[in-house]
Amino acid sequence: MRASRTIISAILTFSGTVFGQSTPRPVPCTVRPASASQQEQIFNTFVEEFYVKSDLFDAFTHVVSDYIQHNPNILDGNAATFDVLSARLSTSTPQILHLAFSAPYGWVHHKDGNSTAIVDVYRFNGTCIQEHWDVIQTVPANSTNPHPLF
Ligand SMILES: *[C@@H]1O[C@H](CO)[C@@H](O)[C@H](O)[C@H]1NC(C)=O
Ligand SMILES: *[C@@H]1O[C@H](CO)[C@@H](O)[C@H](O)[C@H]1NC(C)=O
Ligand SMILES: *[C@@H]1O[C@H](CO)[C@@H](O)[C@H](O)[C@H]1NC(C)=O
Repeated sequence: MRASRTIISAILTFSGTVFGQSTPRPVPCTVRPASASQQEQIFNTFVEEFYVKSDLFDAFTHVVSDYIQHNPNILDGNAATFDVLSARLSTSTPQILHLAFSAPYGWVHHKDGNSTAIVDVYRFNGTCIQEHWDVIQTVPANSTNPHPLF
């Protein structure tokens, strides 16, 4: 009886409400020591899950619960970012333009739709993603330079 109530409350803890539906949340990453090459492998897995497969759930198992978020429109924490992105992601799949990793930082330069360029920067802490910054640029109506933004 006591055990089953604990399980139910654990399930409730990892769920949020998006558009009135209960969406399960991923279990956040637990920080363990990792070498630079292990971090790079985890980063590549995260990029594949997040940007290629749009598998937000698996991607956010690599993110700590106390995620430091520098995007001004999203609060700190794995759950806050997961909730915002899971409400958004279905609209478009990003196209990766450049990708780099230099421990503990990983960068993804990508194209969102045809009008927005984004650079996401992530910082690792051991096996987990701890912090995120992004820089977002929209194609201007009239460009001085005829080269495309992408
Ligand atoms: C981007 O432009 C291409 C080529 O014009 C078009 O086929 C595609 O549907 C556009 N994608 C979006 C998300 O608007
Ligand atoms: C890494 O994670 C541990 C455990 O949450 C935390 O105590 C530590 O401050 C973090 N270090 C960095 C550099 O983020
Ligand atoms: C872009 O250029 C056109 C034609 O010169 C002009 O009508 C329009 O106002 C410009 N748009 C912006 C956002 O500057």
